[in-house]
Amino acid sequence: MATRKQSELYSGKAKTVYITDDPTQLILYFRDDTSAFDGKKIERFSRKGEINNKFNAFIMEKLAAAGIPTHFERLLSEQESLVKRLEMFPIECVVRNIATGSLCRRLGVQDGLDLDPPVFEFFLKDDARHDPMINEYHIRTFGWANPKQVEQMKEYTFRINDILKVLFLEAGLLLVDYKLEFGDVQGQVLLGDEFTPDGCRLWDVKTREKLDKDRFRHGLGGVTEAYEEVARRLGMPL
Ligand code: C5P
Repeated sequence: MATRKQSELYSGKAKTVYITDDPTQLILYFRDDTSAFDGKKIERFSRKGEINNKFNAFIMEKLAAAGIPTHFERLLSEQESLVKRLEMFPIECVVRNIATGSLCRRLGVQDGLDLDPPVFEFFLKDDARHDPMINEYHIRTFGWANPKQVEQMKEYTFRINDILKVLFLEAGLLLVDYKLEFGDVQGQVLLGDEFTPDGCRLWDVKTREKLDKDRFRHGLGGVTEAYEEVARRLGMPL
């Protein structure tokens, strides 16, 4: 029986999450609008929801095939996907292979510097406090996740780096950095949320042209076109 959408659970920057008639499943609706700078900049891009929904499905399936447990179940429609319902940790896991963005602002390091080994950072999901950086002691003391779950999140985040760096490089793209979110279901840590160009940075390997959400953040234009270009290079069906 097809899972039916019921009430809205949560509406984020670019997705709305719906409860379904199955308590173990949720529906993600990828909207066309996008926001940056804590919601100060909002714009709508035709076809972006559909591209991100399909992009996320493609990446989640690649990760699952490589042994990473994820919440993704299947595509339901152009802009909707069915996922397992998780108890999300209020934490963002970021890995950086090249310095840019907030790392450069915080530490004054040169934009574009190769990071070897890659840098791992935790942030607290708290828009009102602009997602402050936290460490494992904060996570443990405030009970946001237990030490075993923290280890699991780090392990998966680095394994995902190994898998996706290669996948993108073969498509002529540098995986500069990305943000992941995890959740728990029945004592298991699973990758949740999404993996799309909204939550990672991808640069053309030769020109270092930005092909991700930075085009929107910095008003560079061609946002949808850049996402489509990444999808095309990955050989994704759109
Ligand atoms: O802004 P910053 O340089 O810390 O971002 C690092 C990576 O995490 C980027 O790929 C960015 O798109 C992603 N990110 C995100 N959601 C946030 C913060 C960062 O997807 N709230």
